[in-house]
Amino acid sequence: MTSSLAGSAVAPASPAPAVVARPLGVAAAGIVFRNPVVLASGTAGYGHELAEVVDLDAIGGLASKAVSVAPRHGAPALRVGEFAGGMINAVGLANPGMEAVRRDHLGYMTAHHAGTRVLINVIGFAIEEFAQVIAHLDDLPGHSGYELNVSCPNTKAGGIEFGADPAALRTVVSTARAATRRPLFVKLSPALGTALVPAAQQAIDAGADALTLVNTMPGLVIDVESRRPRLGFGSGGVSGPAILPVGVLATWRVSRALPGVPLCGLGGVSTADDALQYILAGASLVGVGTASLRDPRAPERIVRGLARWCDRHGITDLAALRGTLEWPQ
Ligand SMILES: Cc1cc2nc3c(=O)[nH]c(=O)nc-3n(C[C@H](O)[C@H](O)[C@H](O)COP(=O)(O)O)c2cc1C
Repeated sequence: MTSSLAGSAVAPASPAPAVVARPLGVAAAGIVFRNPVVLASGTAGYGHELAEVVDLDAIGGLASKAVSVAPRHGAPALRVGEFAGGMINAVGLANPGMEAVRRDHLGYMTAHHAGTRVLINVIGFAIEEFAQVIAHLDDLPGHSGYELNVSCPNTKAGGIEFGADPAALRTVVSTARAATRRPLFVKLSPALGTALVPAAQQAIDAGADALTLVNTMPGLVIDVESRRPRLGFGSGGVSGPAILPVGVLATWRVSRALPGVPLCGLGGVSTADDALQYILAGASLVGVGTASLRDPRAPERIVRGLARWCDRHGITDLAALRGTLEWPQ
C-alpha cells in the first residue's frame, strides 16, 4: 500500500519484537508486545496524530480509532465533557470510513513505529459490516489484528447493541473470524452486567482470540443552568477514574470464568498502580484512554512506573503476575 502519510519524515521504524523481552514484554493472542501498555481506541487516532506528543516507540501498542464501512460524521457538539470522576463522550464513532483509512492512515505506524503493535478497531451497524471492514484491510502489512467494538446499535434489528444480543454477537464474531486469520479481540461493554461473562464466552466460542474489557459506561451529565444535557447527543459514555473499579471487576470475573483467554483490561487507568490492578485481576494488556487525553505522556509514565515496580519487587516477568489476585476467603 502507499499511504500519503507513510513517507512523512518522523522516526525510523523500530523492529517488531519477535520474542518477549522481560520484564515487561508480553505475548497475547499470538502477538508479542514490548510492554503491556496499549493506547485505547478513540483516544489515539490512527497513531500519526500523536507523533509529535507521544513516544510511540515507548508503548506496547495502540487500538486505532473506529473504522466503519462508510465515513461517519459522528455526533453533534459538544462531544466531550468533563466531570469530577472523569469524562463523558458521545463522539458517535466519527471516522473517515475504510477506504480513506486504508489509503491515508494505516501506513504511518508500519513505516515509522513497526515495533508498536496496532489493532484496528472495527465497528458496524449491520452484522455483515464488521467482516466487510476486515476484508477491506486484511491484506495490509503492519497491523496485528482487529478489535471488534460490538457496542454499536444493530440498525437492522431495532438498534439493540450487538454485544447485548447473543445471537447477533455470535454471528458478528463468526463472520469476522471467517474473514481473517489474524488475531481478533472483541471489546465488551461494562453495562452488560451479569450478561458480561456469558457474552465473553459466546465471543470466544464464535472464534475470538482475546477480549477487551471494558468500553465506556453509559451516563448522563446535566448542565443545571441550561437544564440540558452537557453533550450534544444527550447521553454518552463515561470513562476515566470513575470506571476503574468497574473495569477491574469485569476483568477479574471474566478471567476467572475463562482462564487462559488473553484479556486487555482498561477503564480509568492513569498510573502504574492502576495498570497493576488490571494485571492482578487477569489482564495481559492494559489500555489507557482518558488519562492520555489529559496528559499524552501518561502512557509512557505508566510503562516507566511498571518497570520501577518490577525492579522494586524483584519481578523478572510481569506477565507471571497475571491473575494472581488473592481473593478474601
Ligand atoms: C473520546 C473517546 C472516544 C472513544 N472512541 C472509541 C471508539 O471509537 N471505539 C472503541 O471501541 N472505544 C472507544 N472509546 C472507549 C475507550 O477505548 C475505552 O474503552 C474507555 O474510554 C475506557 O478507558 P479509559 O477510562 O482509559 O478512557 C472512546 C473513549 C473516549 C474517551
